[in-house]
Amino acid sequence: MNLKNKDFLKLLDFSTEEINYLLDLSAELKEKKKSGTPHRMCEGKSIALIFEKTSTRTRCAFEVAASDLGMHPTYLDPSGSQIGKKESIADTARVLSRMYDAIEYRGFGQEIVEDLAKYSDVPVYNGLTNEFHPTQILADFLTIKEHCGDLAGKKLVYMGDARYNMGNSLMVGCAKMGMHFVACAPKKYFPNDELVKECMAVAEKTGAVLEFIEDPITATKGADVIYTDVWVSMGEPDSVWEERIKELSPYQVNKALMDNAGEKCKFMHCLPAFHDLNTTIGKEINQKFGITCMEVTDEVFESDASIVFDEAENRMHTIKAVIAATLA
Ligand code: CP
Ligand code: NVA
Repeated sequence: MNLKNKDFLKLLDFSTEEINYLLDLSAELKEKKKSGTPHRMCEGKSIALIFEKTSTRTRCAFEVAASDLGMHPTYLDPSGSQIGKKESIADTARVLSRMYDAIEYRGFGQEIVEDLAKYSDVPVYNGLTNEFHPTQILADFLTIKEHCGDLAGKKLVYMGDARYNMGNSLMVGCAKMGMHFVACAPKKYFPNDELVKECMAVAEKTGAVLEFIEDPITATKGADVIYTDVWVSMGEPDSVWEERIKELSPYQVNKALMDNAGEKCKFMHCLPAFHDLNTTIGKEINQKFGITCMEVTDEVFESDASIVFDEAENRMHTIKAVIAATLA
């Protein structure tokens, strides 16, 4: 398997075998980290981390992974560089390529990260765009493998806004890995027809099943994993909260839904999550709309079925695998 110098922009660009290779490498690197075995596979290299949106997990995962691999990371925050305002993406790509061995980008449209890759001489990694969040999916799949075994045939139900980065990327990932993906939401929140068509073509080859169901009870029956994400994503205006709360509240992941899925069902969330009132936005929403949690109840979030912190840890091991596979 040779992924050297390849960009990591979306899972559609990768074969099932390549994704499996990255997951195996992640497990291997996780083992090395746990046993204290050095793995400085990219000694002396450097990576630029561009964040046009905020982050906890992705930024920390890239920084720790780079450091474990012997690399030097530079973090460019949402306001502290010339990107976009005084300098185009094409010029930024050509400048950073002269100094760094790889570039990570988190921001808005997928076309921006694709453009960055087009003009860059070094591998570019997508750390989240409006459309896709591919490094998150690798972490999710490593976590599912650890808790549930082989990916093929596993039923993953995504509750909520399935037409944004997480719903889109999970659908692509499940199609690639021969899984059973269900998007559960009101129809207008289903992924767009073009992407569904592309994933259906992939599913035909891998044996994956893709379904789009409005009724939560029908959708979640027998699920191995129920997955959800925030109802309003970074970059969306505050004015959409009211509509989202109204339309997506019936899709909240609560105990009744987990019970309906069955005993073996795990709960997953890319995080951050609104499950209590211990956040500024959580408190604001509570004052305005009177609710104490949103996409998931605190009861489910804190339950034994919840594997969200294993999932968060795996961001680091899987991002490390992407860097090592493309640079070492
Ligand atoms: N899941 C995820 O991408 O988290 P951050 O926004 O904290 O990076
Ligand atoms: N859909 C969320 C994912 C955060 C990891 C967002 O884009 O804000």
